[in-house]
Amino acid sequence: MDKIDKLKQKTMPSHIAIILDGNGRWAKKRGRSRSYGHRQGALNVKHIVEVCKKLGVSVLSVYAFSTENWKRPKNEVDFLMNLPKSFEERYSEKELDEKVKLKDVRVVFSGRRDRFNAYNVDLIERIEKNTAHNEALTLNICVDYGSRDEIVHATKVLAQKVKNDELAVSDIDAGLFEKQLYTKDLPPVDLLIRTSGEIRLSNYLLWQNAYAEFYFTKTHWPAFKEKQLIKAIEDYQKRNRKFGEIKE
Ligand code: IPE
Ligand code: IPE
Ligand code: MG
Repeated sequence: MDKIDKLKQKTMPSHIAIILDGNGRWAKKRGRSRSYGHRQGALNVKHIVEVCKKLGVSVLSVYAFSTENWKRPKNEVDFLMNLPKSFEERYSEKELDEKVKLKDVRVVFSGRRDRFNAYNVDLIERIEKNTAHNEALTLNICVDYGSRDEIVHATKVLAQKVKNDELAVSDIDAGLFEKQLYTKDLPPVDLLIRTSGEIRLSNYLLWQNAYAEFYFTKTHWPAFKEKQLIKAIEDYQKRNRKFGEIKE
């Protein structure tokens, strides 16, 4: 029996979220530019999506650009914002198919859209529309995403509904609140992975990670492959998830 079959005999995480960190450091170690690291990091998403499909994971969330990442130098922000377009320009249809395009994956995006250029907004909408009926896995790409921003936004939506007499304050509970988040259709995170050695959440899915198991690895994101993901899930399967109860 191979490692993947063995993992599948135990409870698999339904929703894995990954903070894709370390593109810059990975590239620096190889004497390459940060941009090169970001490109290789972006291409690694497809690789991990394929592994998640084999494993039967339902949802994979990836943190690709935070609300705080706008603070980076303009040339780096520009490079990241132009990455999707650069793939379309750089690769032939055949290469795009091999390296970038995902098969039978429903892609959704979490985060603000008002700070993107028209090309990226259109691309996001197109991808969401064209993949809506795919079933093998849901990939939730978090771009211009920040948890505090998401929670403030949800609060404003509910406050406005109360003001309009569409909602009573007493109707507000965790379930209703959750419905205002970008991730409203997704289950809570079971396993949160952060690559590259930092032990922090950096404003990622604070609500959705309430009962997630955390896994931190020193491996940089572009080097995080099937073997590393299997190791993370093996670790997860050893955890005793209690959700506040008493479980032997
Ligand atoms: C993660 O890699 C990608 C983004 C945050 C966009 P980093 O760019 O943070 O890489 P390091 O942490 O500097 O190595
Ligand atoms: C978190 O990584 C954001 C993403 C991976 C998109 P950062 O590299 O921006 O986080 P900090 O600055 O080290 O906390
Ligand atoms: Mg980083």
